[in-house]
Amino acid sequence: MRIANLDDVDKVWRVFNELNVGEINVFNRSVTLSLIRSMRVLVVEKWGVIAGAMALKLRDPLEVFAIAVHPDFKKQGIGSQLLKEADKEAQRFGATSIFAESYAIYGVRGFYEKNGYNTTVLGNGYNFQRKFNPPVGKLAFFTRCVKLYLWLNTI
Ligand SMILES: CC(C)(COP(=O)(O)OP(=O)(O)OC[C@H]1O[C@@H](n2cnc3c(N)ncnc32)[C@H](O)[C@@H]1OP(=O)(O)O)[C@@H](O)C(=O)NCCC(=O)NCCS
Repeated sequence: MRIANLDDVDKVWRVFNELNVGEINVFNRSVTLSLIRSMRVLVVEKWGVIAGAMALKLRDPLEVFAIAVHPDFKKQGIGSQLLKEADKEAQRFGATSIFAESYAIYGVRGFYEKNGYNTTVLGNGYNFQRKFNPPVGKLAFFTRCVKLYLWLNTI
């Protein structure tokens, strides 16, 4: 697992292309590039191939903005590995919860629920959420410092 860099754009796009289903056709190369530039994009590599990728919005609640696995590597635990890393990122960032929104057309309710997310049904899709216990004591103070530091870096 590593953070994607700009040289990865074509390989990550090949994976995010999995998100273009039905009438959804927004995950092109330039969107992938802007995700790598503006979000935390994490990738899983297998034998030099980017097998899975995920774009996170680091905030509280943390958002899994995009997640996909290359067709050759589905159902091998890579999607779950990415969501576990999203948990770690959320906790490093001090987020108290994590969520993802998804259209029904993706049919991924089972995937999120197997990974410990609760589902709220929306009009045309789902909101999946997972809450963490709030940090206490020294950890809470440290968490606030990290948040402040990250926020200062955005302005
Ligand atoms: C959804 C996706 C990321 C899952 O990745 P994956 O690596 O195949 O998932 P995993 O192997 O970690 O699966 C974990 C569990 O979820 C289940 N699962 C995986 N995909 C599922 C799906 N589409 N629907 C229901 N359950 C699913 C698996 O069966 C597995 O359960 P098990 O442990 O009982 O076998 C992948 O199928 C994908 O890229 N889909 C296309 C893009 C997409 O829909 N992204 C989500 C948009 S919000």
